[in-house]
Amino acid sequence: KDVNLIRNICIIAHIDHGKTTLVDRILELTKSVDPRQMHEQFLDQMDIERERGITIKAQPVKILYQYKEKEYEINIIDTPGHVDFSYEVSRSMAACEGAILLVDASQGVEAQTVAHTYLAIENDLDLVAAVNKIDLPNANVDETCNEIIDLIGIDSSDILKVSAKTGQGVENILNAIIEKVKPPKGDVKKPLKALIFDAKYDKYRGVIVYVRIFDGSVKKGDEILVMSTGDKYEVIETGIFTPLMKPTEELGPGEVGYIIAGIKEVGHAKVGDTITNAAFPSDSPLPGYKEIKPMVYASMFSGLPEYYEELKKSLEKLKLNDWALFFEPTHSPALGFGFRCGFLGLLHMDIVRERLEREYEIAVILTAPNVEYKILLSNGNEMFVNDPAKFPDEDEIQKIYEPFVKLSIITPSDYVGDIFTNLQNERRANLLHTENAGKNRVIMYFKVPLAEIITDFFDRLKAISHGYASMDYEFLGYEESDVVKISILINKEPVDALSTIVHKSKAYIVAKKLVDKLSELIPRHQFEIPIQAKAYGRIIARADIKALRKDVLAKCYGGDVTRKMKLLEKQKEGKKKLREIGQVSIPQEAFLAVLRID
Ligand code: GTP
Repeated sequence: KDVNLIRNICIIAHIDHGKTTLVDRILELTKSVDPRQMHEQFLDQMDIERERGITIKAQPVKILYQYKEKEYEINIIDTPGHVDFSYEVSRSMAACEGAILLVDASQGVEAQTVAHTYLAIENDLDLVAAVNKIDLPNANVDETCNEIIDLIGIDSSDILKVSAKTGQGVENILNAIIEKVKPPKGDVKKPLKALIFDAKYDKYRGVIVYVRIFDGSVKKGDEILVMSTGDKYEVIETGIFTPLMKPTEELGPGEVGYIIAGIKEVGHAKVGDTITNAAFPSDSPLPGYKEIKPMVYASMFSGLPEYYEELKKSLEKLKLNDWALFFEPTHSPALGFGFRCGFLGLLHMDIVRERLEREYEIAVILTAPNVEYKILLSNGNEMFVNDPAKFPDEDEIQKIYEPFVKLSIITPSDYVGDIFTNLQNERRANLLHTENAGKNRVIMYFKVPLAEIITDFFDRLKAISHGYASMDYEFLGYEESDVVKISILINKEPVDALSTIVHKSKAYIVAKKLVDKLSELIPRHQFEIPIQAKAYGRIIARADIKALRKDVLAKCYGGDVTRKMKLLEKQKEGKKKLREIGQVSIPQEAFLAVLRID
């Protein structure tokens, strides 16, 4: 196969800027999918993705395109747009020679787009810039072009104007890909070098590994070697994405396709790893592979002990699909047996919870998320702790370090002041610098503890900026920090699942808010219940729940019957969700109280 007739590209676009729609139009235009099979958003396969309208897993597609009497093969790798999945984006880029930079004309360039564009430039990708949604009445095409020019410094005549919805201008994108993106290089005689840029678990066939071949070739019957683990497997099938999987004889240099080789878990063929031939191995893997670590941790409980095994099995099954999910058994005196889980970010956490509920029909209690702290103990040893319940005693601690990130925010200039105030005053952030990002828009860079932005920051940012600001962040490193653990006692008993780590400057405020919130959320009982917050070896805040006096139903006498019925129904629901702690019933949402104090 002639590599000069191959183009491998990915699409850089912010969530909702129209990437999936653009791919749909390209599939139609090139008649790559049978119209009967064509449904909107062909590439978003998971139910949750379709419902939420966001792409989580990268799904590639190969199309054939006639240009100046030659037939070209274009592989498009559809990348996820959310910051939680940035690593997958960077690996998708490593599999390509070019990228379409797609920007919604009604929204302009967003923070993640900036971050991903710079990543593409670092990866030496050729860029095809396009402004999308020009059909919209509120499209601001000229302004958006200027923002793109600011970003990558190209000529305005090189920016394509398209509507992925109507199809206008889409053909120009395909032509530009052929003309501007360099063809792949590669030597079929060299040992196999294949980059894993994604993997999917299939119930019947095991792991399906998505690869880009750099050198050599691979076919059925070959013995392959996964370079980071040294594991060997026999290839059962190779193929391409049309976008449905279609077996082929072999995969050669420059090509994008899949390998099935009896691999049992996605974790055994991780994104970014290199596959080579076991008999004729390459001496070095492709650059850039990194083990990724979870950034956000939370505990997960099934609520009732009889569901523990089920939760465990469901998590194990999920893990087959989701290599970034981490979990290990944990125990909480208050909530029983459960799992300590690690996630890439809050969206990832949300998706895991939702998939458990939807695909495995198991409801879970998730504790408030937190980051991983590094602790220098008095005895000179170092340890990492991601569970507040496992924090060592205060007198055993010499120093605590917490993770910091570089946060970038793009916002209309009007909101710069409020964003700055929120971050600087309430979240221990430091402004690094600001830059202009088009007319009346600014990009702000902050250094901030990750812990300060993992809970409610994204929502706050959207509220402050009326939805206009966008953000992205990257990990910087660990730094010493003055944080303290707040423990919560309900009816004098410690409830470890409610404990939280906060910075010293906020300890008293958070403690007070927490006990107040809990006293609202926990229903009255026959007796008075004290709720206390403890830190620095003493109680620092307290609220009491008065003993119960009236029957809830009393209110309904004389009222209409349906309302009473509804209330009863609701109570039944409520009871299901209550946890008994000692003699106190605590509703599930109380465990999320730590999340929602503001
Ligand atoms: P993620 O998968 O979450 O990254 O989003 P996406 O970039 O794939 O966006 P998607 O294609 O799902 O489009 C988001 C919304 O914008 C959908 O409602 C589309 O119908 C709409 N849309 C996409 N392109 C256009 C366009 O050119 N014009 C108009 N008017 N709407 C568009």
